[in-house]
Amino acid sequence: MHASVALSFSSVALLACVSCALPPPCDSEIYCTGPIFALYVVLAAFRNLSNASPNSTVPPSKLQEFLSTYFEKPGTEFEPWTPPDWHDEPKFLGGIADGELRNWAEKIHHLWKSLGRKMVSGVKDHPELYSQIYSPHPVIVPGGRFRELYYWDSYWVINGLLLSEMTDTAHGMIQNFLYLVNRYGFIPNGGRIYYERRSQPPFLTLMVESYYQATKDKEFLRAALPALEQEYRFWMQNRSVAVEVNGAEHVLNRYHVQVGLPRPESYTDDLELAEGLTDDRKEQLWMDLKAGAESGWDFTSRWYTDTDGHNNGTLRETSTSQILPADLNAVLCLNEKTLASFHRILGDIDSAALFEQTAARRLEAIESVLWDAERGAWFDYNLVTHSKHFEFYPSNLAPVWAQCYSRPEMAEKAVQYLKGSSALQFPNGVPTSLRDSGQQWDYPNAWPPLQHMLIRGLSKLPSEDAKLLAFDLAQRWIKTNWLAYTKYEAMFEKYDVNGDGKPGAGGEYQVQLGFGWTNGVALQLLDQYGLRLVSGSRRVSPGLLLPLVLSVTLRLQ
Ligand SMILES: *[C@@H]1O[C@H](CO)[C@@H](O)[C@H](O)[C@H]1NC(C)=O
Ligand SMILES: *[C@@H]1O[C@H](CO)[C@@H](O)[C@H](O)[C@H]1NC(C)=O
Ligand SMILES: *[C@@H]1O[C@H](CO)[C@@H](O)[C@H](O)[C@H]1NC(C)=O
Ligand SMILES: *[C@@H]1O[C@H](CO)[C@@H](O)[C@H](O)[C@H]1NC(C)=O
Repeated sequence: MHASVALSFSSVALLACVSCALPPPCDSEIYCTGPIFALYVVLAAFRNLSNASPNSTVPPSKLQEFLSTYFEKPGTEFEPWTPPDWHDEPKFLGGIADGELRNWAEKIHHLWKSLGRKMVSGVKDHPELYSQIYSPHPVIVPGGRFRELYYWDSYWVINGLLLSEMTDTAHGMIQNFLYLVNRYGFIPNGGRIYYERRSQPPFLTLMVESYYQATKDKEFLRAALPALEQEYRFWMQNRSVAVEVNGAEHVLNRYHVQVGLPRPESYTDDLELAEGLTDDRKEQLWMDLKAGAESGWDFTSRWYTDTDGHNNGTLRETSTSQILPADLNAVLCLNEKTLASFHRILGDIDSAALFEQTAARRLEAIESVLWDAERGAWFDYNLVTHSKHFEFYPSNLAPVWAQCYSRPEMAEKAVQYLKGSSALQFPNGVPTSLRDSGQQWDYPNAWPPLQHMLIRGLSKLPSEDAKLLAFDLAQRWIKTNWLAYTKYEAMFEKYDVNGDGKPGAGGEYQVQLGFGWTNGVALQLLDQYGLRLVSGSRRVSPGLLLPLVLSVTLRLQ
Protein backbone atom coordinates (compact mmCIF):
# COMPACT_ATOMS: atom_id res chain seq x y z
CA MET A 1 0.00 0.00 0.00
CA HIS A 2 2.24 2.71 1.19
CA ALA A 3 5.52 3.16 2.92
CA SER A 4 6.57 6.07 5.00
CA VAL A 5 8.55 6.70 8.09
CA ALA A 6 8.99 10.32 8.98
CA LEU A 7 12.15 9.79 10.96
CA SER A 8 13.94 7.58 8.52
CA PHE A 9 13.03 9.99 5.76
CA SER A 10 14.81 12.78 7.53
CA SER A 11 17.94 10.81 8.17
CA VAL A 12 18.14 9.00 4.89
CA ALA A 13 17.41 12.07 2.81
CA LEU A 14 20.09 13.98 4.66
CA LEU A 15 22.57 11.21 4.13
CA ALA A 16 21.76 11.08 0.49
CA CYS A 17 21.77 14.83 -0.12
CA VAL A 18 25.08 15.30 1.60
CA SER A 19 26.98 12.30 0.40
CA CYS A 20 25.93 11.88 -3.20
CA ALA A 21 25.13 15.46 -4.28
CA LEU A 22 22.02 14.28 -6.09
CA PRO A 23 19.33 16.83 -6.84
CA PRO A 24 16.84 17.32 -4.02
CA PRO A 25 13.87 14.98 -3.69
CA CYS A 26 11.13 17.62 -3.45
CA ASP A 27 10.39 21.34 -3.45
CA SER A 28 10.25 22.05 0.25
CA GLU A 29 12.77 24.70 1.15
CA ILE A 30 13.43 23.24 4.54
CA TYR A 31 13.40 19.56 3.85
CA CYS A 32 15.00 19.55 0.46
CA THR A 33 16.35 22.59 -1.36
CA GLY A 34 16.27 25.98 0.22
CA PRO A 35 18.98 28.18 1.70
CA ILE A 36 17.69 27.55 5.21
CA PHE A 37 18.18 23.85 4.68
CA ALA A 38 21.71 24.36 3.40
CA LEU A 39 22.73 26.54 6.28
CA TYR A 40 20.83 24.95 9.00
CA VAL A 41 22.70 23.86 12.06
CA VAL A 42 21.34 20.35 11.56
CA LEU A 43 23.26 20.03 8.37
CA ALA A 44 26.42 21.35 9.98
CA ALA A 45 26.06 18.81 12.72
CA PHE A 46 25.49 16.12 10.16
CA ARG A 47 28.66 17.13 8.29
CA ASN A 48 30.54 16.89 11.53
CA LEU A 49 29.16 13.44 11.96
CA SER A 50 30.17 12.26 8.49
CA ASN A 51 33.62 13.84 8.76
CA ALA A 52 34.20 11.96 11.94
CA SER A 53 33.48 8.71 10.12
CA PRO A 54 35.75 8.58 7.07
CA ASN A 55 34.10 5.71 5.17
CA SER A 56 30.75 7.51 5.35
CA THR A 57 29.58 4.73 7.59
CA VAL A 58 28.27 6.58 10.59
CA PRO A 59 28.00 4.17 13.55
CA PRO A 60 24.33 3.55 14.44
CA SER A 61 24.78 4.89 17.96
CA LYS A 62 26.16 8.21 16.65
CA LEU A 63 23.36 8.49 14.13
CA GLN A 64 20.83 7.77 16.86
CA GLU A 65 22.36 10.49 19.02
CA PHE A 66 22.24 12.95 16.14
CA LEU A 67 18.61 12.10 15.41
CA SER A 68 17.46 12.42 18.98
CA THR A 69 19.24 15.78 19.31
CA TYR A 70 17.87 17.34 16.15
CA PHE A 71 14.62 15.55 15.35
CA GLU A 72 11.45 14.87 17.24
CA LYS A 73 10.45 11.29 17.84
CA PRO A 74 8.25 9.93 15.09
CA GLY A 75 4.58 10.59 15.50
CA THR A 76 4.88 13.70 17.67
CA GLU A 77 2.90 15.81 15.17
CA PHE A 78 -0.20 13.88 16.12
CA GLU A 79 -1.89 13.53 19.46
CA PRO A 80 -4.54 10.94 20.32
CA TRP A 81 -8.06 12.16 19.70
CA THR A 82 -11.30 10.52 20.74
CA PRO A 83 -13.96 11.31 18.16
CA PRO A 84 -16.70 13.20 20.07
CA ASP A 85 -19.41 11.76 17.81
CA TRP A 86 -18.55 8.17 18.80
CA HIS A 87 -21.40 6.52 20.67
CA ASP A 88 -22.49 3.05 21.74
CA GLU A 89 -24.91 0.89 19.82
CA PRO A 90 -25.07 2.27 16.31
CA LYS A 91 -28.15 0.83 14.57
CA PHE A 92 -26.39 -1.42 12.08
CA LEU A 93 -25.25 -3.73 14.91
CA GLY A 94 -28.87 -4.77 15.39
CA GLY A 95 -28.93 -6.19 11.86
CA ILE A 96 -26.22 -8.79 12.57
CA ALA A 97 -27.86 -12.11 13.38
CA ASP A 98 -24.85 -14.16 14.54
CA GLY A 99 -24.13 -13.24 18.17
CA GLU A 100 -20.39 -13.73 17.93
CA LEU A 101 -20.16 -11.60 14.82
CA ARG A 102 -22.26 -8.91 16.44
CA ASN A 103 -19.94 -8.76 19.47
CA TRP A 104 -16.99 -8.57 17.17
CA ALA A 105 -18.58 -5.79 15.09
CA GLU A 106 -19.03 -3.87 18.31
CA LYS A 107 -15.32 -4.27 19.07
CA ILE A 108 -14.46 -3.00 15.60
CA HIS A 109 -16.76 -0.07 16.20
CA HIS A 110 -14.75 0.62 19.39
CA LEU A 111 -11.49 0.67 17.42
CA TRP A 112 -12.34 4.05 15.86
CA LYS A 113 -11.56 5.56 19.25
CA SER A 114 -8.00 4.27 19.22
CA LEU A 115 -7.33 5.33 15.62
CA GLY A 116 -8.38 8.97 16.03
CA ARG A 117 -5.57 11.58 15.73
CA LYS A 118 -5.41 15.33 15.86
CA MET A 119 -2.52 17.49 14.69
CA VAL A 120 -0.62 19.44 17.33
CA SER A 121 -0.98 23.20 16.84
CA GLY A 122 2.68 23.50 15.85
CA VAL A 123 2.02 21.91 12.48
CA LYS A 124 -0.25 24.81 11.55
CA ASP A 125 1.86 27.54 13.15
CA HIS A 126 5.29 26.27 12.10
CA PRO A 127 4.80 24.09 9.04
CA GLU A 128 8.50 24.51 8.17
CA LEU A 129 9.44 22.33 11.14
CA TYR A 130 7.30 19.38 10.07
CA SER A 131 7.15 17.01 7.16
CA GLN A 132 3.47 16.51 7.98
CA ILE A 133 1.11 18.43 5.70
CA TYR A 134 -1.28 20.49 7.76
CA SER A 135 -4.94 19.65 7.42
CA PRO A 136 -7.61 21.31 9.53
CA HIS A 137 -9.65 18.40 10.92
CA PRO A 138 -8.84 15.35 13.04
CA VAL A 139 -8.51 12.06 11.18
CA ILE A 140 -8.77 8.31 11.57
CA VAL A 141 -5.32 6.96 10.63
CA PRO A 142 -4.93 3.56 8.99
CA GLY A 143 -3.04 2.28 12.05
CA GLY A 144 0.33 0.67 12.75
CA ARG A 145 3.29 2.57 11.37
CA PHE A 146 1.19 5.05 9.42
CA ARG A 147 1.31 8.36 11.24
CA GLU A 148 -0.40 10.45 8.63
CA LEU A 149 -3.62 10.34 6.71
CA TYR A 150 -3.74 8.35 3.48
CA TYR A 151 -5.93 9.01 0.52
CA TRP A 152 -7.67 5.91 -0.83
CA ASP A 153 -7.69 4.11 2.54
CA SER A 154 -9.97 6.86 3.77
CA TYR A 155 -12.82 5.86 1.43
CA TRP A 156 -13.37 2.58 3.31
CA VAL A 157 -12.70 4.24 6.66
CA ILE A 158 -15.37 6.84 5.89
CA ASN A 159 -17.86 4.18 4.80
CA GLY A 160 -17.26 2.41 8.11
CA LEU A 161 -17.57 5.67 10.08
CA LEU A 162 -20.91 6.37 8.42
CA LEU A 163 -22.20 2.95 9.53
CA SER A 164 -20.93 3.81 13.02
CA GLU A 165 -23.03 7.00 12.75
CA MET A 166 -19.93 9.18 13.06
CA THR A 167 -20.95 11.66 10.40
CA ASP A 168 -19.00 14.56 11.94
CA THR A 169 -15.75 12.63 11.86
CA ALA A 170 -16.45 11.54 8.28
CA HIS A 171 -17.32 15.12 7.39
CA GLY A 172 -14.03 16.38 8.84
CA MET A 173 -11.99 13.82 6.92
CA ILE A 174 -13.68 14.80 3.67
CA GLN A 175 -13.10 18.49 4.48
CA ASN A 176 -9.39 17.71 4.83
CA PHE A 177 -9.30 16.27 1.34
CA LEU A 178 -11.24 19.22 -0.10
CA TYR A 179 -8.72 21.49 1.65
CA LEU A 180 -5.85 19.57 0.04
CA VAL A 181 -7.39 19.88 -3.43
CA ASN A 182 -7.81 23.61 -2.91
CA ARG A 183 -4.21 23.89 -1.78
CA TYR A 184 -2.44 21.57 -4.24
CA GLY A 185 -4.90 21.12 -7.11
CA PHE A 186 -5.03 17.41 -6.35
CA ILE A 187 -4.79 15.07 -3.39
CA PRO A 188 -1.32 13.91 -2.38
CA ASN A 189 -0.79 10.21 -1.69
CA GLY A 190 -0.71 10.95 2.02
CA GLY A 191 -0.17 13.75 4.49
CA ARG A 192 3.57 14.26 4.06
CA ILE A 193 5.35 16.86 1.98
CA TYR A 194 7.37 14.17 0.25
CA TYR A 195 4.09 12.97 -1.26
CA GLU A 196 3.40 16.31 -2.93
CA ARG A 197 3.93 15.11 -6.48
CA ARG A 198 1.90 11.91 -6.42
CA SER A 199 -1.66 11.06 -5.71
CA GLN A 200 -3.49 7.78 -5.05
CA PRO A 201 -6.57 6.15 -6.63
CA PRO A 202 -9.14 8.98 -6.84
CA PHE A 203 -11.89 8.18 -4.35
CA LEU A 204 -12.83 11.67 -3.07
CA THR A 205 -15.95 11.95 -5.25
CA LEU A 206 -17.11 8.57 -3.96
CA MET A 207 -16.44 9.63 -0.35
CA VAL A 208 -18.70 12.62 -0.93
CA GLU A 209 -21.29 10.30 -2.51
CA SER A 210 -21.21 8.05 0.59
CA TYR A 211 -21.60 11.06 2.84
CA TYR A 212 -24.46 12.45 0.75
CA GLN A 213 -26.26 9.09 0.81
CA ALA A 214 -26.01 9.06 4.62
CA THR A 215 -27.02 12.67 5.22
CA LYS A 216 -28.81 13.98 2.06
CA ASP A 217 -26.96 17.23 2.75
CA LYS A 218 -27.29 19.16 -0.52
CA GLU A 219 -25.44 22.21 0.76
CA PHE A 220 -22.45 20.06 1.52
CA LEU A 221 -22.62 18.69 -2.00
CA ARG A 222 -22.84 22.17 -3.49
CA ALA A 223 -19.83 23.35 -1.49
CA ALA A 224 -17.74 20.26 -2.34
CA LEU A 225 -18.43 20.17 -6.08
CA PRO A 226 -15.85 22.76 -7.30
CA ALA A 227 -13.01 20.86 -5.58
CA LEU A 228 -14.26 17.53 -6.95
CA GLU A 229 -14.20 19.00 -10.44
CA GLN A 230 -10.76 20.40 -9.87
CA GLU A 231 -9.46 17.01 -8.82
CA TYR A 232 -11.08 15.48 -11.89
CA ARG A 233 -9.30 18.06 -14.09
CA PHE A 234 -5.99 17.09 -12.52
CA TRP A 235 -6.51 13.45 -13.52
CA MET A 236 -7.50 14.46 -17.04
CA GLN A 237 -4.74 17.02 -17.54
CA ASN A 238 -1.86 15.30 -15.77
CA ARG A 239 -2.67 11.61 -15.89
CA SER A 240 -4.40 10.91 -19.20
CA VAL A 241 -3.09 9.60 -22.48
CA ALA A 242 -4.54 9.17 -25.98
CA VAL A 243 -4.32 5.69 -27.44
CA GLU A 244 -5.27 4.52 -30.91
CA VAL A 245 -6.96 1.16 -31.28
CA ASN A 246 -8.42 -0.08 -34.58
CA GLY A 247 -8.09 3.36 -36.14
CA ALA A 248 -10.00 5.17 -33.40
CA GLU A 249 -8.44 7.40 -30.75
CA HIS A 250 -9.45 7.03 -27.11
CA VAL A 251 -8.41 8.87 -23.98
CA LEU A 252 -7.75 6.82 -20.87
CA ASN A 253 -5.82 7.33 -17.64
CA ARG A 254 -2.70 5.99 -16.06
CA TYR A 255 -0.56 6.51 -12.97
CA HIS A 256 2.31 8.76 -13.89
CA VAL A 257 4.71 10.73 -11.69
CA GLN A 258 7.27 12.81 -13.53
CA VAL A 259 9.86 12.96 -10.81
CA GLY A 260 12.86 10.83 -11.75
CA LEU A 261 14.38 10.53 -8.29
CA PRO A 262 14.27 7.91 -5.55
CA ARG A 263 11.27 8.03 -3.24
CA PRO A 264 12.37 10.13 -0.26
CA GLU A 265 10.69 7.74 2.19
CA SER A 266 12.51 4.73 0.69
CA TYR A 267 15.60 6.50 -0.58
CA THR A 268 18.25 3.84 -0.12
CA ASP A 269 16.00 1.03 -1.37
CA ASP A 270 15.41 2.90 -4.61
CA LEU A 271 19.06 3.89 -4.96
CA GLU A 272 20.19 0.28 -4.59
CA LEU A 273 17.49 -1.08 -6.87
CA ALA A 274 18.67 1.17 -9.71
CA GLU A 275 22.36 0.31 -9.33
CA GLY A 276 24.01 -0.49 -12.67
CA LEU A 277 21.31 1.06 -14.84
CA THR A 278 22.03 3.92 -17.24
CA ASP A 279 21.00 7.36 -16.00
CA ASP A 280 17.94 7.40 -18.26
CA ARG A 281 16.80 3.99 -17.10
CA LYS A 282 17.36 5.00 -13.48
CA GLU A 283 15.17 8.06 -13.86
CA GLN A 284 12.49 6.06 -15.60
CA LEU A 285 12.54 3.36 -12.93
CA TRP A 286 12.26 5.94 -10.15
CA MET A 287 9.33 7.60 -11.92
CA ASP A 288 7.65 4.23 -12.33
CA LEU A 289 8.21 3.27 -8.69
CA LYS A 290 6.53 6.53 -7.71
CA ALA A 291 3.72 5.81 -10.16
CA GLY A 292 3.48 2.38 -8.49
CA ALA A 293 3.08 4.14 -5.14
CA GLU A 294 0.46 6.38 -6.73
CA SER A 295 -1.49 3.31 -7.87
CA GLY A 296 -1.84 2.15 -4.26
CA TRP A 297 -0.42 -1.21 -5.41
CA ASP A 298 3.14 -0.76 -4.19
CA PHE A 299 4.48 -3.08 -5.24
CA THR A 300 3.30 -5.79 -7.55
CA SER A 301 4.16 -7.96 -10.51
CA ARG A 302 1.15 -6.28 -12.12
CA TRP A 303 3.41 -3.33 -12.99
CA TYR A 304 6.34 -5.45 -14.22
CA THR A 305 6.77 -5.63 -17.98
CA ASP A 306 9.15 -7.37 -20.33
CA THR A 307 9.79 -6.44 -23.93
CA ASP A 308 7.25 -9.01 -25.13
CA GLY A 309 4.52 -7.20 -23.25
CA HIS A 310 4.11 -9.78 -20.48
CA ASN A 311 4.00 -8.97 -16.78
CA ASN A 312 7.31 -10.66 -16.45
CA GLY A 313 10.36 -9.53 -14.54
CA THR A 314 11.31 -8.17 -11.16
CA LEU A 315 10.85 -4.98 -9.22
CA ARG A 316 13.51 -3.43 -11.49
CA GLU A 317 11.16 -3.94 -14.43
CA THR A 318 8.39 -1.91 -12.79
CA SER A 319 6.87 0.13 -15.63
CA THR A 320 3.68 1.47 -14.12
CA SER A 321 3.34 4.45 -16.45
CA GLN A 322 3.31 2.20 -19.56
CA ILE A 323 0.09 0.65 -18.39
CA LEU A 324 -3.53 1.78 -18.64
CA PRO A 325 -5.05 0.11 -15.55
CA ALA A 326 -8.57 -1.34 -15.68
CA ASP A 327 -9.40 -0.28 -12.12
CA LEU A 328 -8.20 3.35 -12.40
CA ASN A 329 -10.34 3.81 -15.48
CA ALA A 330 -13.31 2.16 -13.79
CA VAL A 331 -12.97 4.50 -10.79
CA LEU A 332 -12.80 7.52 -13.09
CA CYS A 333 -15.83 6.29 -15.03
CA LEU A 334 -17.73 6.03 -11.77
CA ASN A 335 -16.50 9.50 -10.79
CA GLU A 336 -17.83 10.90 -14.07
CA LYS A 337 -21.24 9.29 -13.54
CA THR A 338 -21.30 10.45 -9.92
CA LEU A 339 -20.35 14.03 -10.82
CA ALA A 340 -23.18 14.00 -13.39
CA SER A 341 -25.61 12.83 -10.71
CA PHE A 342 -24.41 15.53 -8.28
CA HIS A 343 -25.08 18.22 -10.89
CA ARG A 344 -28.49 16.74 -11.56
CA ILE A 345 -29.34 16.73 -7.83
CA LEU A 346 -28.33 20.40 -7.64
CA GLY A 347 -30.38 21.28 -10.71
CA ASP A 348 -27.54 22.03 -13.14
CA ILE A 349 -28.79 19.99 -16.11
CA ASP A 350 -26.18 21.27 -18.56
CA SER A 351 -23.22 20.27 -16.41
CA ALA A 352 -24.89 16.94 -15.71
CA ALA A 353 -25.21 16.30 -19.45
CA LEU A 354 -21.56 17.19 -19.95
CA PHE A 355 -20.38 14.63 -17.41
CA GLU A 356 -22.77 12.04 -18.84
CA GLN A 357 -21.12 12.53 -22.22
CA THR A 358 -17.69 12.19 -20.66
CA ALA A 359 -18.77 8.97 -18.95
CA ALA A 360 -20.15 7.66 -22.26
CA ARG A 361 -16.83 8.38 -23.99
CA ARG A 362 -14.98 6.63 -21.15
CA LEU A 363 -17.24 3.60 -21.45
CA GLU A 364 -16.52 3.40 -25.17
CA ALA A 365 -12.78 3.70 -24.51
CA ILE A 366 -12.87 1.01 -21.83
CA GLU A 367 -14.69 -1.34 -24.19
CA SER A 368 -12.41 -0.66 -27.15
CA VAL A 369 -9.12 -0.78 -25.30
CA LEU A 370 -9.54 -2.90 -22.16
CA TRP A 371 -12.44 -5.30 -22.76
CA ASP A 372 -11.54 -8.73 -24.14
CA ALA A 373 -14.63 -10.46 -25.53
CA GLU A 374 -12.92 -13.83 -25.85
CA ARG A 375 -11.78 -14.01 -22.21
CA GLY A 376 -14.73 -12.05 -20.90
CA ALA A 377 -12.99 -9.48 -18.72
CA TRP A 378 -11.16 -6.13 -18.78
CA PHE A 379 -7.38 -6.17 -18.86
CA ASP A 380 -4.66 -3.59 -18.30
CA TYR A 381 -3.33 -2.27 -21.60
CA ASN A 382 0.39 -1.85 -22.32
CA LEU A 383 1.07 1.40 -24.22
CA VAL A 384 4.46 0.26 -25.47
CA THR A 385 3.62 -3.18 -26.83
CA HIS A 386 -0.01 -2.27 -27.63
CA SER A 387 -1.21 -5.43 -25.98
CA LYS A 388 -3.27 -6.44 -22.98
CA HIS A 389 -1.89 -8.14 -19.87
CA PHE A 390 -3.90 -11.31 -19.42
CA GLU A 391 -2.82 -12.26 -15.89
CA PHE A 392 -5.51 -12.51 -13.23
CA TYR A 393 -6.07 -9.56 -10.90
CA PRO A 394 -9.30 -8.73 -9.06
CA SER A 395 -9.02 -5.36 -10.83
CA ASN A 396 -9.93 -7.15 -14.07
CA LEU A 397 -13.52 -6.97 -12.78
CA ALA A 398 -13.43 -3.34 -11.63
CA PRO A 399 -15.82 -2.20 -14.42
CA VAL A 400 -18.45 -4.55 -12.92
CA TRP A 401 -18.11 -2.70 -9.61
CA ALA A 402 -18.28 0.67 -11.40
CA GLN A 403 -21.15 -0.57 -13.60
CA CYS A 404 -19.20 0.74 -16.56
CA TYR A 405 -20.14 -1.51 -19.45
CA SER A 406 -22.78 -1.21 -22.15
CA ARG A 407 -24.35 -4.69 -22.25
CA PRO A 408 -25.46 -6.84 -19.26
CA GLU A 409 -23.96 -9.98 -20.81
CA MET A 410 -20.48 -8.47 -20.45
CA ALA A 411 -20.77 -8.57 -16.66
CA GLU A 412 -22.13 -12.13 -16.76
CA LYS A 413 -19.19 -13.15 -18.93
CA ALA A 414 -16.91 -11.57 -16.36
CA VAL A 415 -18.47 -13.75 -13.65
CA GLN A 416 -17.66 -16.82 -15.74
CA TYR A 417 -14.14 -15.48 -16.27
CA LEU A 418 -13.72 -15.17 -12.51
CA LYS A 419 -14.97 -18.69 -11.92
CA GLY A 420 -12.56 -20.09 -14.48
CA SER A 421 -9.58 -18.10 -13.22
CA SER A 422 -8.41 -20.35 -10.31
CA ALA A 423 -8.67 -17.24 -8.10
CA LEU A 424 -11.65 -18.71 -6.22
CA GLN A 425 -9.96 -21.83 -4.93
CA PHE A 426 -8.56 -20.20 -1.79
CA PRO A 427 -10.44 -20.45 1.49
CA ASN A 428 -9.58 -17.00 2.82
CA GLY A 429 -10.20 -14.51 0.05
CA VAL A 430 -9.38 -13.67 -3.53
CA PRO A 431 -5.66 -13.14 -4.01
CA THR A 432 -4.26 -9.94 -5.50
CA SER A 433 -2.67 -11.96 -8.31
CA LEU A 434 -1.71 -15.57 -8.93
CA ARG A 435 2.00 -14.86 -8.87
CA ASP A 436 4.05 -15.25 -5.70
CA SER A 437 6.58 -12.47 -6.34
CA GLY A 438 7.33 -11.65 -2.70
CA GLN A 439 5.71 -8.25 -3.22
CA GLN A 440 2.80 -7.38 -1.00
CA TRP A 441 0.31 -6.71 -3.82
CA ASP A 442 0.60 -10.25 -5.18
CA TYR A 443 -0.30 -13.80 -4.20
CA PRO A 444 -0.88 -14.92 -1.45
CA ASN A 445 -2.04 -11.58 -0.04
CA ALA A 446 -5.65 -10.50 -0.14
CA TRP A 447 -6.50 -6.85 0.49
CA PRO A 448 -9.73 -5.50 1.93
CA PRO A 449 -10.52 -2.87 -0.75
CA LEU A 450 -10.14 -5.41 -3.56
CA GLN A 451 -12.43 -7.92 -1.80
CA HIS A 452 -14.97 -5.20 -1.25
CA MET A 453 -15.01 -3.93 -4.83
CA LEU A 454 -15.36 -7.47 -6.14
CA ILE A 455 -18.14 -8.46 -3.73
CA ARG A 456 -19.97 -5.18 -4.20
CA GLY A 457 -19.82 -5.49 -7.99
CA LEU A 458 -21.06 -9.10 -8.02
CA SER A 459 -23.84 -8.37 -5.55
CA LYS A 460 -25.28 -5.68 -7.83
CA LEU A 461 -25.65 -8.05 -10.80
CA PRO A 462 -29.09 -9.45 -11.57
CA SER A 463 -28.09 -13.12 -11.83
CA GLU A 464 -28.54 -15.46 -8.88
CA ASP A 465 -25.19 -17.00 -9.72
CA ALA A 466 -23.36 -13.69 -9.24
CA LYS A 467 -25.24 -12.88 -6.04
CA LEU A 468 -24.41 -16.30 -4.57
CA LEU A 469 -20.79 -15.83 -5.42
CA ALA A 470 -20.80 -12.36 -3.84
CA PHE A 471 -22.18 -13.79 -0.61
CA ASP A 472 -19.76 -16.70 -0.63
CA LEU A 473 -16.79 -14.31 -0.99
CA ALA A 474 -18.17 -12.08 1.77
CA GLN A 475 -18.49 -15.11 4.04
CA ARG A 476 -14.92 -16.21 3.35
CA TRP A 477 -13.58 -12.72 4.02
CA ILE A 478 -15.52 -12.22 7.23
CA LYS A 479 -14.41 -15.62 8.43
CA THR A 480 -10.78 -14.76 7.68
CA ASN A 481 -10.96 -11.42 9.51
CA TRP A 482 -12.83 -12.99 12.40
CA LEU A 483 -10.44 -15.92 12.81
CA ALA A 484 -7.46 -13.57 12.83
CA TYR A 485 -9.22 -11.41 15.38
CA THR A 486 -9.87 -14.37 17.67
CA LYS A 487 -6.20 -15.36 17.43
CA TYR A 488 -4.51 -11.96 17.66
CA GLU A 489 -7.18 -9.57 18.90
CA ALA A 490 -6.24 -7.39 15.97
CA MET A 491 -7.37 -6.32 12.55
CA PHE A 492 -4.65 -6.43 9.89
CA GLU A 493 -4.12 -4.39 6.74
CA LYS A 494 -4.06 -7.57 4.60
CA TYR A 495 -4.46 -11.34 4.98
CA ASP A 496 -3.06 -14.55 3.52
CA VAL A 497 -5.56 -16.35 1.25
CA ASN A 498 -4.52 -19.72 2.71
CA GLY A 499 -3.96 -18.93 6.33
CA ASP A 500 -7.37 -19.29 8.05
CA GLY A 501 -6.74 -16.02 9.79
CA LYS A 502 -3.07 -15.51 9.03
CA PRO A 503 -2.05 -11.92 8.28
CA GLY A 504 -0.38 -11.14 4.95
CA ALA A 505 3.33 -10.52 4.47
CA GLY A 506 5.94 -9.45 1.94
CA GLY A 507 7.01 -6.10 0.52
CA GLU A 508 8.88 -3.31 2.21
CA TYR A 509 7.56 -3.43 5.75
CA GLN A 510 5.97 -5.72 8.36
CA VAL A 511 2.23 -6.24 8.24
CA GLN A 512 0.41 -3.51 10.16
CA LEU A 513 -2.33 -3.60 12.77
CA GLY A 514 -5.22 -1.24 13.13
CA PHE A 515 -6.56 -1.16 10.57
CA GLY A 516 -8.72 1.51 8.99
CA TRP A 517 -9.81 0.03 5.68
CA THR A 518 -10.04 -3.51 7.04
CA ASN A 519 -12.44 -2.29 9.71
CA GLY A 520 -14.46 -0.30 7.18
CA VAL A 521 -14.81 -3.24 4.78
CA ALA A 522 -15.70 -5.69 7.56
CA LEU A 523 -18.40 -3.35 8.86
CA GLN A 524 -19.81 -2.85 5.37
CA LEU A 525 -20.02 -6.58 4.72
CA LEU A 526 -21.52 -7.22 8.15
CA ASP A 527 -24.09 -4.57 7.33
CA GLN A 528 -24.86 -5.83 3.82
CA TYR A 529 -25.10 -9.51 4.79
CA GLY A 530 -25.80 -9.28 8.51
CA LEU A 531 -28.70 -11.73 8.47
CA ARG A 532 -26.80 -14.50 6.71
CA LEU A 533 -23.13 -14.32 7.70
CA VAL A 534 -21.87 -16.75 10.30
CA SER A 535 -18.69 -16.64 12.38
CA GLY A 536 -15.79 -18.98 11.69
CA SER A 537 -17.00 -21.57 14.17
CA ARG A 538 -19.89 -22.63 11.95
CA ARG A 539 -19.62 -23.80 8.39
CA VAL A 540 -21.11 -22.28 5.27
CA SER A 541 -23.62 -24.54 3.57
CA PRO A 542 -21.61 -26.76 1.21
CA GLY A 543 -24.29 -26.20 -1.43
CA LEU A 544 -22.98 -22.67 -1.87
CA LEU A 545 -19.49 -23.83 -2.60
CA LEU A 546 -20.48 -26.64 -4.94
CA PRO A 547 -20.71 -24.60 -8.16
CA LEU A 548 -17.26 -23.19 -7.47
CA VAL A 549 -15.72 -26.56 -6.76
CA LEU A 550 -17.25 -27.83 -10.00
CA SER A 551 -15.87 -24.96 -12.01
CA VAL A 552 -12.38 -25.51 -10.60
CA THR A 553 -12.55 -29.25 -11.19
CA LEU A 554 -13.70 -28.83 -14.76
CA ARG A 555 -10.99 -26.35 -15.52
CA LEU A 556 -8.31 -28.73 -14.32
CA GLN A 557 -9.47 -31.63 -16.47
C1 LIG B 1 31.07 20.73 14.44
O1 LIG B 1 32.37 20.45 14.95
C2 LIG B 1 33.09 21.58 15.34
C3 LIG B 1 34.51 21.15 15.71
O2 LIG B 1 34.46 20.00 16.51
C4 LIG B 1 32.38 22.27 16.50
O3 LIG B 1 33.05 23.43 16.90
C5 LIG B 1 30.97 22.64 16.06
O4 LIG B 1 30.23 23.18 17.15
C6 LIG B 1 30.26 21.45 15.52
N1 LIG B 1 28.99 21.89 14.94
C7 LIG B 1 27.84 21.36 15.27
C8 LIG B 1 26.61 21.99 14.64
O5 LIG B 1 27.73 20.38 15.96
C1 LIG C 1 37.40 2.02 5.56
O1 LIG C 1 37.12 0.99 4.66
C2 LIG C 1 38.22 0.15 4.36
C3 LIG C 1 37.81 -0.83 3.27
O2 LIG C 1 36.52 -1.33 3.50
C4 LIG C 1 38.71 -0.54 5.63
O3 LIG C 1 39.85 -1.35 5.35
C5 LIG C 1 39.08 0.51 6.64
O4 LIG C 1 39.46 -0.10 7.87
C6 LIG C 1 37.92 1.47 6.90
N1 LIG C 1 38.31 2.53 7.77
C7 LIG C 1 37.61 2.89 8.84
C8 LIG C 1 38.17 4.00 9.64
O5 LIG C 1 36.57 2.33 9.17
C1 LIG D 1 -0.06 19.17 -13.85
O1 LIG D 1 0.22 19.68 -15.14
C2 LIG D 1 0.42 21.08 -15.15
C3 LIG D 1 0.51 21.52 -16.60
O2 LIG D 1 1.35 20.70 -17.33
C4 LIG D 1 1.64 21.42 -14.34
O3 LIG D 1 1.86 22.81 -14.31
C5 LIG D 1 1.43 20.91 -12.91
O4 LIG D 1 2.61 21.11 -12.15
C6 LIG D 1 1.09 19.44 -12.90
N1 LIG D 1 0.75 19.05 -11.55
C7 LIG D 1 1.35 18.04 -10.92
C8 LIG D 1 0.95 17.81 -9.53
O5 LIG D 1 2.19 17.33 -11.42
C1 LIG E 1 8.88 -15.03 -18.07
O1 LIG E 1 10.28 -15.11 -17.98
C2 LIG E 1 10.75 -16.40 -17.68
C3 LIG E 1 12.24 -16.29 -17.44
O2 LIG E 1 12.84 -15.44 -18.38
C4 LIG E 1 10.38 -17.34 -18.83
O3 LIG E 1 10.81 -18.64 -18.53
C5 LIG E 1 8.86 -17.32 -19.00
O4 LIG E 1 8.50 -18.08 -20.13
C6 LIG E 1 8.36 -15.89 -19.20
N1 LIG E 1 6.93 -15.88 -19.19
C7 LIG E 1 6.25 -15.20 -20.09
C8 LIG E 1 4.76 -15.25 -19.96
O5 LIG E 1 6.78 -14.58 -20.97
